[in-house]
Amino acid sequence: MPSLARHRGRPRHGPPLHKLWGIATFGHMIDRTFCIQTFGCQMNVNDSRWLARALTRRGFTEAGPETARIHILNTCSVRNKPEQKVYSALGRVRRVTTGRTDAFAVVAGCVAQQIGADFFRRFPQVRLIVGGDGLRMAPGAIARLCEERDLRLNLTDFSATYPERDPELEGAANTGTAAVGPVAYVNIMQGCDNFCAYCIVPCTRGGQKSRTVAAVLDECRALLDRGAREIVLLGQNVNAYGQDRYGDGTSFTRLLYRTAELSERTDLRRLRFVTSHPKDFSPDSTAAFAALPILASNLHLPIQSGSDAVLARMGRGYTRNTYLRLVENLYKARPDLAITTDIIVGFPGETERDFQDTLAVMRAVPYASSFSFCYSDRPGTAACSLPDKVPQDIAALRLERLQALQQELTLARLTGLVGQTAEVLLESPSPRPAGETASWQGRDNWGNVVHVAPCDAARGRAGDSIPVRITEARKHSLVAEAV
Ligand code: 5AD
Ligand code: SF4
Repeated sequence: MPSLARHRGRPRHGPPLHKLWGIATFGHMIDRTFCIQTFGCQMNVNDSRWLARALTRRGFTEAGPETARIHILNTCSVRNKPEQKVYSALGRVRRVTTGRTDAFAVVAGCVAQQIGADFFRRFPQVRLIVGGDGLRMAPGAIARLCEERDLRLNLTDFSATYPERDPELEGAANTGTAAVGPVAYVNIMQGCDNFCAYCIVPCTRGGQKSRTVAAVLDECRALLDRGAREIVLLGQNVNAYGQDRYGDGTSFTRLLYRTAELSERTDLRRLRFVTSHPKDFSPDSTAAFAALPILASNLHLPIQSGSDAVLARMGRGYTRNTYLRLVENLYKARPDLAITTDIIVGFPGETERDFQDTLAVMRAVPYASSFSFCYSDRPGTAACSLPDKVPQDIAALRLERLQALQQELTLARLTGLVGQTAEVLLESPSPRPAGETASWQGRDNWGNVVHVAPCDAARGRAGDSIPVRITEARKHSLVAEAV
């Protein structure tokens, strides 16, 4: 269990003074407004939504960054850039909180875990640091900080098992506890055991801890009861689900089938999962794409590099050929599968030839879209001490070339869809430039963002899955009309 470690504050024992004095709630007299700024991955987005709900239930109110009293930063340290953004954000928080003795900052997530109590020394406005496992204790800690002005708390211990949270507060959209949006994200595990040479995640999120099947399915059922239509199973390496000492022996494929079965008794329409590791992707999971129509035709399968030499130095546990064989089998199981990926350019020792291998794999797959990054040294990772660092300007040029190729591949795929029909799960009204007809925003089964016109109540509601005809391909999305 994470400990509520006390920092610098004066120790105080017994119940709070306002309770002894019979004052109903001293807390009501002070400003309990908060704002959350989120960096990084979908797991962080999910964590922030949970925290917002949990604080709202405790009587706190969400406010804008200019007026909020409690400034929460949910941080990412996967590369240097998002880490630096946290320090800039703390500078802005300092400016808006100067002169307000009741205002303070909370640093949550991976940078909190990475930097730890040092935050208190470097940024006096920070009064709570909280890692992934400690998050469920954050609402209580924030409430205490509002009442005990000298207190600072550090919740960065790792817990021994998956840190279960109040299931009622889990959810998709930030709409209170009753209703959730059509797409719901469900954590199935925390952490990672892989130690890829470039990656800080095993240090910041800790070792892999699977949730029990019962806990995952209970949360899915609760979300489906409250309006969810699509479930996305989330984890750093979902294919290794259950393969740690916290799992109950159920494999990821079995969990997929169990989740898909929920469609027999609920309105579950679509199932997705993210992120997959190619080395752990079992033939059973590949076969699930043939056996389970409810699985979306959309898979995120990070390759990181197309060069065997680079993959070996990264410690990824697969080669370019084993990866391409996996892709071939996936296409056999689901011919229209849209595969997306993550790629790092400029990993230590990467030559122009290695980079060309990556471009060749991108064309061979070909990827529907990709997230690509310049390699960034992360403290404590194995890659930090590798020789032959690639100069920044060379890495930046490679990234540009790679992104240009991806743009071509994406546009070719999206253009090829014009004229076809597709099923779109409506999520929300599209943000609309003035003068344009109102439209819905949703996703098709391949994961593309689709703007569907017209957007009127007679034709659909958020959560409806409707047939459309695709009329136009944009750079990163599609336009369609309801049919
Ligand atoms: N440098 C650059 N990119 C990184 N990623 C992870 N660590 C690093 C790093 N040190 C990328 C990987 C991963 C994605 C989430 O971030 O591509 O899949
Ligand atoms: Fe990082 Fe590798 Fe684990 Fe992904 S699988 S979180 S890249 S260590």
